[in-house]
Amino acid sequence: MSEKEFSLTELNKPKDWTNLTVMAKKHVPIIEAPEKVKAKEAFAVRVKVGGIHGVEHPNTLGHWINWVELYAGERLVSRVNFAPEMCDGYFVNLNVTLNEAATLRARAFCNLHGIWEGKEKTVIVE
Ligand SMILES: [Fe+2]
Repeated sequence: MSEKEFSLTELNKPKDWTNLTVMAKKHVPIIEAPEKVKAKEAFAVRVKVGGIHGVEHPNTLGHWINWVELYAGERLVSRVNFAPEMCDGYFVNLNVTLNEAATLRARAFCNLHGIWEGKEKTVIVE
């Protein structure tokens, strides 16, 4: 049985990280953030879309990553739009401040392949 490669109506989220599809490697956003932070002290969060095992997403007028979003729990922290061809590299660097522990989630939208979400990242606040 072959799994559908992507959905335009539902969230695309890999189930098996040991066996990612090429489609997932191109679209899934990866969050880099510290595991522990201090309350009310800014820390760096980087979100990179795709590029897993070197498989980068195309960046053309007809096919590109339109935006990436970062959430802390259910709260939208940031949304960044990319202009095709003009934005070189699908990543964002953010400074984030938390008052309490939160689960970070990132989503990316490709105009041809829908919305993708990667692994959650829990940040503990001391
Ligand atoms: Fe795509």
